Amino acid sequence: MKKLFTFLAILALGVQVASAEDTPLGKAMSGMNKSMRTLKKQVADPAKKAENLELIGKIKASIEDCKKLEPSYTPKVPAAEKPAFLAKYKEQMDSVAQSFATIETALKADKFDDAKAVFEKLSEQKEKGHKDFHADDDK
Ligand code: HEM
Repeated sequence: MKKLFTFLAILALGVQVASAEDTPLGKAMSGMNKSMRTLKKQVADPAKKAENLELIGKIKASIEDCKKLEPSYTPKVPAAEKPAFLAKYKEQMDSVAQSFATIETALKADKFDDAKAVFEKLSEQKEKGHKDFHADDDK
């Protein structure tokens, strides 16, 4: 019996993890996440400047992909509130794009510490976006 519970618990966990990344938006976000992690690690390294600018290019493309998609929670939003919900989603994605534009400008001007500082804001934007748009809900 104990084994059965363990099995079910693992299964439930697996389904939950799979569902978050299985959506088209989850996949686009994961792509952005990977590039962002690498960028964060090496953003202040002047030797990696060209590589970092390339990563920013990739991230910008992922943000555009994300903007073409809708959060999986959208069908649960009452019809009357949907336009505002989606407008707010796009606005918050635009703010993220703006943060990367700030990083890009700083990097081009060799202001590596300024570029690094933007990551704090990005973490807040990610956290708020995921809360407001139910990224971590079971779908
Ligand atoms: C700032 C950088 C961001 C990163 C690195 C990021 C990363 C991710 C990752 C890795 C996932 C999929 C796996 C998981 O559940 O954790 C995800 C899902 C999601 N993210 Fe983001 N995210 C960011 C910002 C945002 C913002 C600003 C919003 C909203 C405006 C947002 C909305 C969502 C939603 C709604 C999902 C769930 C997918 C779905 O609904 O189908 N994220 N994000």
